[in-house]
Amino acid sequence: MDQVYIENIADHEGQEVTLKGWLYNKRSSGKLHFLQVRDGTGTIQCVIFKKDVPEQAFEQAAHLAQESAIIVHGTVRADERSPIGFEVGVSDLELVGEASDYPITPKDHGVAFLLDNRHLWVRSARQHAVLRIRSEIAHACRQYFDDRGFVLFDSPILTPAACEGTTTLFETPYFDETAYLTQSGQLYLEAGAMAFGKAYCFGPTFRAEKSKTRRHLMEFWMVEPEVAYMDLAGDMDLAEDFVEYVVQRVVQNRRRELDVLERDVGKLESVRKPFPRITYDEAVTTLRDKGFSIEWGEDFGAEEETVLSEAYDRPVLVHRYPAACKAFYMKADPENAKLALCVDMLAPEGYGEIIGGGQREDDLQTLEGKITEHGLPHEAFSWYLDLRRYGSVPHAGFGMGIERAVAWICGLHHVRETIPFPRMLERLTP
Ligand code: 4AD
Ligand code: MG
Repeated sequence: MDQVYIENIADHEGQEVTLKGWLYNKRSSGKLHFLQVRDGTGTIQCVIFKKDVPEQAFEQAAHLAQESAIIVHGTVRADERSPIGFEVGVSDLELVGEASDYPITPKDHGVAFLLDNRHLWVRSARQHAVLRIRSEIAHACRQYFDDRGFVLFDSPILTPAACEGTTTLFETPYFDETAYLTQSGQLYLEAGAMAFGKAYCFGPTFRAEKSKTRRHLMEFWMVEPEVAYMDLAGDMDLAEDFVEYVVQRVVQNRRRELDVLERDVGKLESVRKPFPRITYDEAVTTLRDKGFSIEWGEDFGAEEETVLSEAYDRPVLVHRYPAACKAFYMKADPENAKLALCVDMLAPEGYGEIIGGGQREDDLQTLEGKITEHGLPHEAFSWYLDLRRYGSVPHAGFGMGIERAVAWICGLHHVRETIPFPRMLERLTP
């Protein structure tokens, strides 16, 4: 008998099947055992009647511990009480791998304990839902750009210089030199955009953030498109179209997982373009009206972002921040040189910034001046300046942090559950 996956069980009603998986939970009563069996694609109840199975299989079932690896043979039958509509009447059972004293029991555990056991925690139902949605989001990101003529242009992880400020660099020896783990693929993507017109990268990025917040990880994934001949307005159009696509894909394909997480799907369904757009100046006025004592020029913190997003039922694009609080590569607004042609997308419901991007400085002299101003080493950027020496054009792009997007779409309080193995200020294991 071939192995059948639980997600396809409905196609096998009335048939003899083999399930290969692990014991999720168990109840027994004299002549009956009820095994909740999971196989990675779902969970199903398998019912063992003493009279239906070899004596030794019935005995074995009595002593099976949680997370024992088992193969179950039996017949699929409809069961209206089952959440998936079916159960299996067991005819035989094989024990493949024993498990004793599995640490994560159905009772409540603290988060520190669960994170210590993250390698096992990923087997549980909620984590399954989150990580399947993450997988769907990653797929949607790739599909969006692949379908629109973007070339996947992988950026390096080991880099000679900073992209997003020198305070959050992870340093590592590189033979006789020093290398830094990439903070963003953007600078390399700009080379890609000049070569292919439209390029994107999707990979891990690293920031030594000395902050312990629910939005920060030391290692996170970013998807970054970059487009030649695109300005800030075009960049905002692209960002909202992309985010609408990603969210609606999850709503369409991962309804079951959203239900497991008790996510209010209506809130995701209203994520449709156009998204509201406000300037930094307008945002400051709003914040002051709400009692914040913010100085013009300051970047927004988590609290400010939350208050700004509360006025809307979909993400809001905040554009034209003061250049002084943004990265060196941002192009200045020709209308007001104190402003950068940049945009942050703030997710609704207080999830904060999920996207950062904007139009890049395309003038050689101006960019050289910015590199000096920011105290960055010119040698390390000579290749980047070449992009302005040889056929420089207006161009723009953005980066979306995958974990922040997953946290928002899943409705999770903290980004630590949005990645299989989170790297946090005080956590490098497992
Ligand atoms: O706003 P950031 O710093 O922008 C850039 O890195 C640009 N170079 C991207 C580009 O234009 N190609 O980061 C982009 C996004 C943020 O909006 C946020 O979602 C996420 O990356 N992010 C983090 N996510 C988790 N933990 C952290 N420490 C993060 N830092 C940024
Ligand atoms: Mg940012």
